[in-house]
Amino acid sequence: MSAPGMPVVVDPTQLPAWEQLSAIRDGLADTTIGELLETERPGLRSAVAGISFDFTRQRIDGRALGHLVELAHEAGVVALRDAMFAGAHINNTEDRAVLHTALRLPFGESLVVDGHDVVPDVHQVLDRMAVVAEQIRSGEWAGSTGETITDVVNIGIGGSDLGPAMAYRALAGFVQPGLTCHFVSNVDPADIHRTLAQLDPARTLVIVASKTFTTAETMANAQAAREWLLTGLSDQGHEGQASDNIRRHFVAVSTNESAVAEFGIDPENMFGFWDWVGGRYSMDSAIGLSTMIAIGPIQFRAMLDGFHAMDEHFRSTPIDANVPFLMGLLAVWNRDFLGIPTTAVLPYSQDLARFPAYLQQLTMESNGKRVRRDGTKVTYPTGGVYWGEPGTGGQHSFYQLLHQGTDDIASDIIVCANPTVAGAESVRGQHDVLVANALAQASVLSVGLDARAVRDSGVAEDLVPHKVMPGNRPVSLVMMPELTPFTLGVLIAAYEHSVFVQGAIWQINSFDQWGVELGKKVAATIESDIRAGQDQDPNLDPATRGSLREYLGMRRA
Ligand code: F6P
Repeated sequence: MSAPGMPVVVDPTQLPAWEQLSAIRDGLADTTIGELLETERPGLRSAVAGISFDFTRQRIDGRALGHLVELAHEAGVVALRDAMFAGAHINNTEDRAVLHTALRLPFGESLVVDGHDVVPDVHQVLDRMAVVAEQIRSGEWAGSTGETITDVVNIGIGGSDLGPAMAYRALAGFVQPGLTCHFVSNVDPADIHRTLAQLDPARTLVIVASKTFTTAETMANAQAAREWLLTGLSDQGHEGQASDNIRRHFVAVSTNESAVAEFGIDPENMFGFWDWVGGRYSMDSAIGLSTMIAIGPIQFRAMLDGFHAMDEHFRSTPIDANVPFLMGLLAVWNRDFLGIPTTAVLPYSQDLARFPAYLQQLTMESNGKRVRRDGTKVTYPTGGVYWGEPGTGGQHSFYQLLHQGTDDIASDIIVCANPTVAGAESVRGQHDVLVANALAQASVLSVGLDARAVRDSGVAEDLVPHKVMPGNRPVSLVMMPELTPFTLGVLIAAYEHSVFVQGAIWQINSFDQWGVELGKKVAATIESDIRAGQDQDPNLDPATRGSLREYLGMRRA
């Protein structure tokens, strides 16, 4: 199962560079990051589009870095990258191209996939999105009672939620005053009902965002929103046609036109995308409609330009100076050679509060795989766990374990040099405190403080072991001048391509997600058992039957 133009699958542990790396890792066992910081290790600090990526606090020396670059060549990562950009079907288990990079190609470029130039299609959808976004922003788009739209509810889950929700929060400073976006994803009725309870249906636009338009959670929430809208308008004395009300208050983003029409949404109000856009790579497709409405088409384009700047860097820069390559290779080094199971994502920016959640899907849905592209089982660790919270809140919560716990955990610290809010001098002062904390944590995590230094600071002998800070936790530090649509695009594309590099070294397909399917099927079986009051379903395992019995016992009708 291999598309033309794709490199053959290999076992990376059998490659010469892997063997060299293992030997170097053993030789480095007693070397600390503090010591490595005193040595020459060119290539560990780079800048792309004004954003600095500093990998100097990684536990690696120059020789290992060189062999990681060789590993990328030996594992066929360059060939796979080129196949991806060219539109080869590198998502081999779904027989699809992987072309999120086409979503940000500038107007006038061309990319022929399966005999068809996709760039005009991309721009046609962007242009249609821009028309609707401007109509809503200007008040020209009226709801069915003639009121302007003040609230946009994006209903979607996974990639149809996390990117837009993250971007809306991150770009709060760019959102048009008077417009508020809300994001509903959970099938828990509390999510949709609590969100809608604060809103006026006459002033609300609902975006149903679902690539497949079959996702159970999204369809349930969309139905609930439909009911709320029609009832709410009728309660307000507006007795318009249901179809007209839906037309003025619902739009869809999907690849499934017939399901959209069946739901009752006018295909005129549907924005399409393509099967070569994976859900977790879709925030700059029509899935980003809420983002475009919030920040406007010009800033949305700036975000796409940021993505594109990083795409170009990734596509054309030699590996040893290529930021996403280095990010990905260092992630492989940490995971497979240093045995580090998890990376904490620590944005020192409250506006990036949803960035760790966004990265969880990007990294873990992409690289949480245990077989290679050809179905053979891997014999080495693949995707690690990504999680996190903004600093400084996390410092007063879980950083204790990062610093002194028994697992080594890597951290990605993200810093914006300038605040996203304007105002009094105290804003600058507070922002300096924020950055001071970020730099302090990067230092303490990586360098730490040994027993001698603790003792020398006058600490009583019995407390010395408690106060030793082992350090040696690898840290990457990303610093951007400020958080804007452009810099956000650069940052996200860096992570997208880093995920690609990791998956390519591991020889897995980073673009499918079969592991989420069985849970959906079993949930559907249990759902119908609940409706039928059936607690003896032989298709379920005994523990699940027991839990179901318990649920049916506690459940109020
Ligand atoms: O179930 C996982 C998943 O398919 C994700 O990959 C995707 O982002 C999400 O569900 C939502 O899918 P859709 O956009 O089709 O509703």
